[in-house]
Amino acid sequence: LKEIAMEKDMKGVNVLVTAGATQEAIDPVRYITNHSTGKMGYALARDCMLRGANVTLVSGQSALTPPPFTTVISVTSAKEMFDAVTEHAESQDIIIKAAAVADYRPASIAAEKMKKKEDALTIELERTDDILKYLGEHKHPQQFLCGFSMETEHMLENSRKKLEKKHLDMIVANNLKQAGAGFGTDTNVVTMITPQEEIALELMSKEEAAHAIVSQILKNRS
Ligand code: CTP
Ligand code: CA
Repeated sequence: LKEIAMEKDMKGVNVLVTAGATQEAIDPVRYITNHSTGKMGYALARDCMLRGANVTLVSGQSALTPPPFTTVISVTSAKEMFDAVTEHAESQDIIIKAAAVADYRPASIAAEKMKKKEDALTIELERTDDILKYLGEHKHPQQFLCGFSMETEHMLENSRKKLEKKHLDMIVANNLKQAGAGFGTDTNVVTMITPQEEIALELMSKEEAAHAIVSQILKNRS
């Protein structure tokens, strides 16, 4: 009830959130993916929805039930996510990219199930398009772009580089090696990095972290 009574400070605001993992097919049976569960992205979509925003959730693979009152677009591969996000980007006031997008995909997808032959197998991979970088290069001045950054070392330096390279307004960094942070946990420990400042949040639930991140976005937009 407390959540339903949340202040509607995002009425009329269009927000697109990406969440979950992409899957890159190898053949009709196998794929390459990562450990993202979608928890952080779904919590962000839910928080924006509760604040009264018009939420579009572009979701990769996730076992979670999407929050109600959101437009959900389910995608599988990085390419599908690219197409869905760029199709809807123009009308968005805020885009939050919490999805864990594959950086590489198999250069070709075998039409039939691959049979095992030699002792070792090499699969050629090619780069996917960087969705966030594309959005940064094509964003309109009023649009707020927030990325996520997952690191196991040099979190702040590496994340700040991504902020600059992708022309972001904010990047939310988390260190996979920190207890209580990262994939699958119900909690997170994040640092919000903007061109001007760094705000480190302590360990909290992903719902609380989502609320704090969205509050910071609204503050920086105004
Ligand atoms: N991202 C994206 N498209 C990709 C790869 C990443 O939009 N093809 C986005 C992610 O959704 C995230 C941000 O870029 O918001 C940072 O992702 P991350 O994997 O931490 O960084 P990369 O820029 O991919 O660099 P690297 O994996 O080499 O650290
Ligand atoms: Ca990456």
